[in-house]
Amino acid sequence: MVSKSGWKIAIIKGDGIGEDVINASLPVIDATKERFKINLTYKFGEGGLHCVEKYGTNLPEETVTLMKNSDCVIKGPATTPEGASSLSSLAVKIREMFDLYANVRPSKALPNVKSIKPGIDLVIVRENTEGLYAGLDFSVDKNTAIGIRLITRGACERICRFAFDLAKKRKGHVTLVHKANILKASDGLFKEVFYTESRKHPKIRADDVHVDAMTQWLISKPETYDVIVTENLFGDIISDEAAETVGGIGVGPAANIGKDYAMFEPIHGSAPKYTGMDKVNPIATILSVKMMFEWMGYDKAANAIQVAVESVLREGKVLTYDLGGTAKCSEVGKEIAGKI
Ligand code: IPM
Ligand code: MG
Repeated sequence: MVSKSGWKIAIIKGDGIGEDVINASLPVIDATKERFKINLTYKFGEGGLHCVEKYGTNLPEETVTLMKNSDCVIKGPATTPEGASSLSSLAVKIREMFDLYANVRPSKALPNVKSIKPGIDLVIVRENTEGLYAGLDFSVDKNTAIGIRLITRGACERICRFAFDLAKKRKGHVTLVHKANILKASDGLFKEVFYTESRKHPKIRADDVHVDAMTQWLISKPETYDVIVTENLFGDIISDEAAETVGGIGVGPAANIGKDYAMFEPIHGSAPKYTGMDKVNPIATILSVKMMFEWMGYDKAANAIQVAVESVLREGKVLTYDLGGTAKCSEVGKEIAGKI
């Protein structure tokens, strides 16, 4: 992405702890924009479970318009209710609406944060538009339900291309996670496309692992992976696991990237029981903001956020409860912003 002047950012706080983690990230955005003289403005749009009563939807039209008039969106977590006829997920709606096909989820060991192995530095590239998230999930009768796992060549091609391009800028290794021994047609297609794409990148090491085995390898040898590419649901599951290897979902960021739009969000959920307590860790959201600056092409600004987060962690004085501290969510945000 080429830098330009006048970036417009939409911000949706979501619900539950969304308000807290987004509010804690605002001073970081402000400090970064000021230090690197980035011409950026942000506007808030409503979104989340609390909107249903007022608007009949978790994503009001006004917010859709706001996003369409912005370059990208930062989104806090939002509750996704269960139940056949209930609301569809806010995150999934936005991913679909803007065709944000690559969900990029890095897990990198951080100073002073418990990591199960030294040297973990991997990125999960999760296909974000298909699989069991395609919405082809319905009841046939009261005893039978069907969920269709959609896999298309085009979607496999673009996500594999994305993964190989990313590996070029990293450690030069891509691993496909699949279950082609059972899902012979769908993951068979994904695997075929993966190795076809790999032949275009002879310098990148390409290999593949079954998803069940991967849950084991992520615990026993996570430091051996670089870029992991996989379909939607497998990516959802193993990205929580990968985050746990480096300190938990409280420090797990994500960038949902499309051709010309992106959404940045923490990988964790809305944790309703902590609503309004100013308690949870804002670092997942702050590192998602870092990914936004990277996507915009401001590498120095992104790096400054990473350095500030690491410095606060290394000092170990202002940490939230999940990292063994007693600081509030907002205090961590301010402390990180102060170091930018
Ligand atoms: C994630 C979340 C979402 C998903 C939920 C909130 C819909 O778990 O971003 O990983 O399943 O993708
Ligand atoms: Mg998830």
